[in-house]
Amino acid sequence: MTDKRLKEHPILPIPSLQKISFTWNGSTMWALPDEMISSALLANGVKIFGKHKKDGSPQGIFCANGQCSQCMVLLNDFPVKACMTKISAGDEVAELRGDPIFPKKSNAPYSKEIKRIELPALILGGGPAGLSAGIELGKMGIKSLLIDDKPSLGGKLLLQTHRFFGSISAVHAGTRGIEIAKKLESEIKKHPSIEIWTNSTALGIFRDRVVGILKEGKEYVILKPQVTLVATGARERSIVFRGNTLPGVIGAGAFQTLVNRDLVKISDRLFIIGGGNVGLIAGYHALQAGIEVVGLAEAMPECGGYKVHKDKLIRAGVPIYTNHTIISANGRTEVESVTISEVNELFRPVEGSERSFKCDTILVAVGLDPVNEFAIKAKKFGMHVLSAGDAEEIAEASAAMFAGKIRGVEMAKMLGADAPDVPENWVKTAEILKSRPGRTENKKNQNCEDGIVPVFHCYQEIPCNPCSSVCPQHLIKIEEADIRHLPVFLGGKSGKKCVGCEKCVTICPGLAVTLVDYRNDPQNPTVTIAHEFSNRATREGDSVTAISSEGEPLGDVTVTNVRTIEKNDHTILLKLQAPKNIAARIAGIRVQELWVSEAMEEKITRITDDTIVCRCERITAGTIRELIRKGYRDVNEVKAVTRAGMGACQGKTCQPLIKRLFSEEGVPFTDVTENTRRPLFIEVPIGIFAGVSEEK
Ligand code: SF4
Ligand code: SF4
Ligand code: FES
Repeated sequence: MTDKRLKEHPILPIPSLQKISFTWNGSTMWALPDEMISSALLANGVKIFGKHKKDGSPQGIFCANGQCSQCMVLLNDFPVKACMTKISAGDEVAELRGDPIFPKKSNAPYSKEIKRIELPALILGGGPAGLSAGIELGKMGIKSLLIDDKPSLGGKLLLQTHRFFGSISAVHAGTRGIEIAKKLESEIKKHPSIEIWTNSTALGIFRDRVVGILKEGKEYVILKPQVTLVATGARERSIVFRGNTLPGVIGAGAFQTLVNRDLVKISDRLFIIGGGNVGLIAGYHALQAGIEVVGLAEAMPECGGYKVHKDKLIRAGVPIYTNHTIISANGRTEVESVTISEVNELFRPVEGSERSFKCDTILVAVGLDPVNEFAIKAKKFGMHVLSAGDAEEIAEASAAMFAGKIRGVEMAKMLGADAPDVPENWVKTAEILKSRPGRTENKKNQNCEDGIVPVFHCYQEIPCNPCSSVCPQHLIKIEEADIRHLPVFLGGKSGKKCVGCEKCVTICPGLAVTLVDYRNDPQNPTVTIAHEFSNRATREGDSVTAISSEGEPLGDVTVTNVRTIEKNDHTILLKLQAPKNIAARIAGIRVQELWVSEAMEEKITRITDDTIVCRCERITAGTIRELIRKGYRDVNEVKAVTRAGMGACQGKTCQPLIKRLFSEEGVPFTDVTENTRRPLFIEVPIGIFAGVSEEK
């Protein structure tokens, strides 16, 4: 029997839980109590969840967030989204082949009254922004309701095993995302004025200024808030390429949900498309889960994410192909390989430069779009509404936390509470936290070869300062007024000496600080590095390949000490003995062998032109381009003619792609009529609106 569950992880504990049984297409399989159907299936090695009604093409999970509808299955004869529905013992789950046939209902139709609740403040979304806003409202005792569609609070923080950037005082920098989620949850729960509904989804915002909520998946409730905060986060962007809907092509958020939240090793060999922070971090998380990361392709000349994230991946042994794009996902029923090629200055593939790599999963991390339909409707209907976090502007979770805090105070003021004005320095901090990476400085040579010295492999301006905050000797300087400045070691100038406490090494989110100790053997100093790969066990006496911050192999060195410090939250400290000419250049060690990322000898050319824009209705890019060339300028007309956007996800996945096709065809978007967005924003059984609690 296939078992794809993680057996160990350097950061995440692996709980041992009693298993439950269910059936898949009649065969018995094992699941963990309360996990989603999708995770149970993937843990059993099932990647194909259904066959499309139009052409029988295999369907698999893409977003794992309830947004795309690609993971529909039959649960006890009833169609459900596998990623949003929990499995129970004895459930019969089956592939959805084409349109579902609904089971006959024996009970006569009936209806119940729908509950209506008036309230001062409503927060949609329990991620970093929503929780932070709720905490501020709670401090002022303002009655508020926070709803979130997941069973646990924290949003994307729950998927982040890495330490956060930013500042310690403002946003818990230096702490892992999963730990920040716990802190925020415990903080908000201290405030009795804040009510929380988990597993509850906002379905729509209506003209009479009410918000329709599906409470705990079974009860429709209408809310009339005085002030609403939309902190609904973001959804993943997709891109069009041949084979883009094959099972095994997956969004980055889905990958992190399945691996880091549900502890399922959904891939053995992964290729990443997109070099922003999301793609870079997902690659690192994959390595931590013991997944081979074959490579990462980024269309721009440089990755858009933080350089420290990129450097971590390169040091581990993952090649990054800049100026490259994906040509196709290859395989008959699921991903077997990927083909990439160079792009020219117009981002068009350069013929003859294609290369194929064996992989079973292609992770698409080409950006995020705000989930802003609630805010748009609320504004249109004249409601008092604010947005925060990714729903307002895509940025790091640290920025979302701080924006939420500000919105909490603004909401209180809108409600007439005696709240202080938002301090000017809060506004400035919020701006700094959401800033994009700045200038990269040339690497400076380390010229002090005496005593013990920290080395900063941190050359790009990003909002981050934990190394400076933790130094007990105050030897690391980062301008407090603007934490985007690079860290500077004050050394002898300050009249104090580094005591080798290792705090700067362990707290750095970029694993970009090392410590070189020349005291015992100046010719072969000891280098201390932070390491987060317990599954690739490194032991004292091992010979390892030392790597520079840019990924250059510096030679083999000996591990002289391996130390896990519990209070440092699973970071391992390795001590390496290295010749002095390379000691200060060592930034990490290789964890993945070079052969993993070798290209295949043959180039795979996918013949079928299944470049799908609308996954739900399987409408190709070619069909839509043809209409654009014929003069269509209204997205609603494109929808009426082709059904693109009329599928189960209501265009959430395909509408941004259709927009892009217009611009690729040279049509300015000012000439195009946008699609009309109507509630409901998420699919629900229709009986919900009659007060019928369950449709099973
Ligand atoms: S090792 Fe300790 S004393 Fe030395 S620079 Fe780092 S934090 Fe400061
Ligand atoms: S060296 Fe300091 S500023 Fe740079 S990433 Fe590490 S903690 Fe942040
Ligand atoms: S992708 Fe769902 S409607 Fe187009």
